Amino acid sequence: MRKIIFVTGNAHKVKEASNILLKLGITVEQNNCGYPELQEDELEKIAAYGAECAADHLGGEVMVDDSGLFIRALGGFPGPYSAYVFDTLGNERILKMMEGGTDRAAVFRCVIGYCRPGEKALLFSGEVEGEISLVGRGDAGFGYDPIFEVGGRTFGDMGDYEKNLLSHRYRALLKFARG
Ligand code: IMP
Repeated sequence: MRKIIFVTGNAHKVKEASNILLKLGITVEQNNCGYPELQEDELEKIAAYGAECAADHLGGEVMVDDSGLFIRALGGFPGPYSAYVFDTLGNERILKMMEGGTDRAAVFRCVIGYCRPGEKALLFSGEVEGEISLVGRGDAGFGYDPIFEVGGRTFGDMGDYEKNLLSHRYRALLKFARG
């Protein structure tokens, strides 16, 4: 079975990627060596740079994941700044920012960067359209899962099994697995 090193500090992403890729014949091993996270305005640039640095650092092929939540009424915010905004504002203050508006459309995007040492990264992106819930719901998952709804249920309501059938990460990893 093919094995891929997933460079990330996020155990939730590893669990999801392992479940998704195992069904596609790939096992995942986490490496927490870290890589420089560019503050850039595109997930693609962040994922490519991270994958190239990590592959060179580890001397082997690697995969990284850069994801972001793009809220239409907020002009695509927080997008590529999703990690910083989650850490500084959190879900409750994002919900507060959206009070009074009727447009709750949002897109969750994931870009998988795959790279071999000395080469340019290959990128695989996936996205899922949804809405920002009125209140946070569900105990499952991580990050923005309690406030991102697809078909009336948040990722937090769904849990891993259901989320992994339709998520941005699933869609990106499917493209990665198919090469
Ligand atoms: P990054 O890809 O690690 O930069 O993640 C950006 C931000 O989005 C972090 O706060 C993550 O916790 C959050 N995030 C990434 N993927 C997901 C997801 O699948 N569900 C909910 N939040 C996520």
